[in-house]
Amino acid sequence: MERLPGFRDFYPEPLPKSDVWSADARQYIFAKWRETARRYGFREYDGPPVEPLELFTTKSGGEIVGQLYNFRDKGDREVALRPEMTPSLARMVAAHERNYKKPIKWFAIPQLFRYERQQKGRLREHFQFNADIIGETDPAADAELIALLIDTLRSFGLTAQDFCIRLSSRNAWHEFYERRRQGANAGGNGEREYEFFQIIDKLERTPADESARKLAELGFSLDEVNQFIAGGDPTAELKSILDNLAARGLGGFATVDYHVIRGLAYYTGVVFEAFDRKGEFRAIAGGGRYDNLVKLISGGKVNLASLGFGMGDVVLLELLTARGLLPKFDGGLNAFVLIEDENQRMPSLKLAHDLRAAGFSVEYPLTPAKADKQFKRAQELKAAFTLRLETGPAVRVRNLKTREEKVVAAVDAGAVARLLK
Ligand code: HAM
Repeated sequence: MERLPGFRDFYPEPLPKSDVWSADARQYIFAKWRETARRYGFREYDGPPVEPLELFTTKSGGEIVGQLYNFRDKGDREVALRPEMTPSLARMVAAHERNYKKPIKWFAIPQLFRYERQQKGRLREHFQFNADIIGETDPAADAELIALLIDTLRSFGLTAQDFCIRLSSRNAWHEFYERRRQGANAGGNGEREYEFFQIIDKLERTPADESARKLAELGFSLDEVNQFIAGGDPTAELKSILDNLAARGLGGFATVDYHVIRGLAYYTGVVFEAFDRKGEFRAIAGGGRYDNLVKLISGGKVNLASLGFGMGDVVLLELLTARGLLPKFDGGLNAFVLIEDENQRMPSLKLAHDLRAAGFSVEYPLTPAKADKQFKRAQELKAAFTLRLETGPAVRVRNLKTREEKVVAAVDAGAVARLLK
């Protein structure tokens, strides 16, 4: 039986084949995500991986809806595997926002499912670090979130030479759209604004004549759009975010780039994406303001300005691998207890158990085995020490790197533990 295309098997290292993924690398990435979120005062939440289909069809916009894994469950409900976390977060916040002081700063690491064409940086399942701030309209919150995004990437050893945050604003594009539409009395109208946004979103990946044709249908020329992007004048909110980041010493990581507008329908203001500087990979992360989503999802009951970003594990891992920034994952043991004399099995078990209770990682042979096999196993498991009980009783402690040996003159786990440190 083969796994489904676009899904991954995660194995412990060393990896058996190049087409499988490292469970150790995944753990490493999750730990960094959690650690940076903690430093910024974000609290972890989670929601269900299956949601009512409607949660996504009404709020996320056409592209993601076309990629949904949806089905009718045995209770005849229309459901979908979550393709993103933001609608679930908005639903959860709306249900219990009174219990939480604003601004709410929450993060999650959900596994998400999108029926995409499998390609570099895109799979049908990925893990995504989500960090969101709810209940604050001031651009100080946008800057705080972008600083977290930058510091998350820096925590992996990436620098301003490796990546950049491209900042933009749907407000700026909205003004552009309205100004030109009214001035030229063009064919586009307010309802087609999202259509216009989607053309801008795909501008860099679409042949120029195709974009020009689509823009012309809405009454715009590709030239005026390109001029607006080239102008790159920061709006007041973008300027304040840039100043805020510069004050933290993070100025070199962000630039205004109106190519970015984001694909999802619910974004309302500042939007941004993180890219590798060399332009070899898809976006590492993306996010922005979605000030109306909580209101929409709560049927008008709760209104909270919100913003956030999502960073996938797939592109990040590709980038870290390409830059040689992943550590070696050898899963080394602290000690391997050799049991060469079966008469020593019970006291050896006790020693292993006491050391484990003290926090050390310890292995031993489950069944009788030849001495050389046991030693080989200790080496394979990258044990730092071997331990062997001897008559006396005593414990022989051998450092496998330096080959230095010491003898503890009793089966004393405390004394052995001091030698393992
Ligand atoms: P998104 O741009 O759809 O935003 O996804 C964010 C990131 O998730 C992407 O930049 C990429 O790294 C990763 N990603 C997305 N789709 C895939 C895929 N098929 N395979 C691998 N990686 C993928 C959102 O999902 C928003 N909900 C983020 C957000 C949170 N906005 C506000 N709060």
